[in-house]
Amino acid sequence: MKVTVGGRARHFRTVAFDVAKNSVLLIEQRLLPHRFEIVSTRNFQETARAITDMVVRGAGAIGATAAYGLAQGVRAFRGSGLEKFSLHTARVYEVLKAARPTAVDPVNAMNDLLRIMSAGETVAQKQALALAAAEEFASEDVKHCQAIGEFGAPLIRKDARVLTHCNAGWLAFVDFGSATAPMYAAQARGTKFHVFCDETRPRSQGATLTAWELAQQKISHEIIADNAAGHLMQRGEIDLVIVGSDRTLGRTGEVANKIGTYTKAVLARRHGIPFYVAIPLSTIDWNLRSGLEIPIEERHESEVLGAWGIISTPASGSRSPASSRRAYVRVANPASRARNPGFDVTPAELITGIITPVGIFKPRDLWKKRAALGFSEK
Ligand code: MRU
Repeated sequence: MKVTVGGRARHFRTVAFDVAKNSVLLIEQRLLPHRFEIVSTRNFQETARAITDMVVRGAGAIGATAAYGLAQGVRAFRGSGLEKFSLHTARVYEVLKAARPTAVDPVNAMNDLLRIMSAGETVAQKQALALAAAEEFASEDVKHCQAIGEFGAPLIRKDARVLTHCNAGWLAFVDFGSATAPMYAAQARGTKFHVFCDETRPRSQGATLTAWELAQQKISHEIIADNAAGHLMQRGEIDLVIVGSDRTLGRTGEVANKIGTYTKAVLARRHGIPFYVAIPLSTIDWNLRSGLEIPIEERHESEVLGAWGIISTPASGSRSPASSRRAYVRVANPASRARNPGFDVTPAELITGIITPVGIFKPRDLWKKRAALGFSEK
């Protein structure tokens, strides 16, 4: 994505790999929109921690990070014994898989890597194949998001008011995003429209990340409190909803996405507003048979009980800040506890269409179209 930092526009991928240093390079998303920084992880354990701690987040981005993390881990292996190498690979895989449970992209990406690595006959060959496959996963993610943009752009008519939830944007993928890809493609076609970004408590990915991306891209937008969408829909101020997904069940068309997505889908149905979900193929889970089987991440209660932000200290006699630091502020009643499920599941009947890199499908048609969607029966 093209980011203007300090007045200079440069293109960055959200996730990249430094081959010489064997490290994964990540945009430090917890600092955005206040500071733009690239961090690098020294080993696969640090890469897994970056996923857990949400330095990097979003289904496609953590898929690419896990793929690079697996390549990083297997490339760090010293020796030529295939048995030891395979035990080491299994350990790297498990550590990265456990980093976050709901998004299926990391598992799909790492399974691809293992399949491709199996063609190697020596440790060195397998290490080289792992890196090539991780690079391929990242590039495919970019291509898929661009294709989603092309299929989704016509849904955004002139002067449309589009609601999106959380951040399924550039930052949630390697580039372009899923839910935002149709917006960027519509903008490139000269269509004028307006986006409402749900704030997306508790971590505020809409208010911080999506709003930052849209501002970088000069797309008209406003942040709304999560509870405001129903009111705007009732007043006829929202024409279309596009969200992303962390796991979409190929067999049922159910969609796991950031907590609050289900509520928006119910509201959209109540008001007759089209509700679309945009996904690359790596977000499809062809195995699970019910949304109830999707592991829903429960995050720490502190996210609900307070909020993170930047505290700036102004320089004396000036309005520009002399320094700024990231800080946590407790908001809730000190004696109260909280529940913090990170995701919810939207049933197929509330979804108008799933925008994929190969076309737009009814959610329940995914299984029928599985061959076109990359599912191979073995
Ligand atoms: O917890 P996060 O920020 O990793 O959640 C992922 C998301 O941003 C959303 O659920 C998004 O809509 C789908 S990820 C492409």
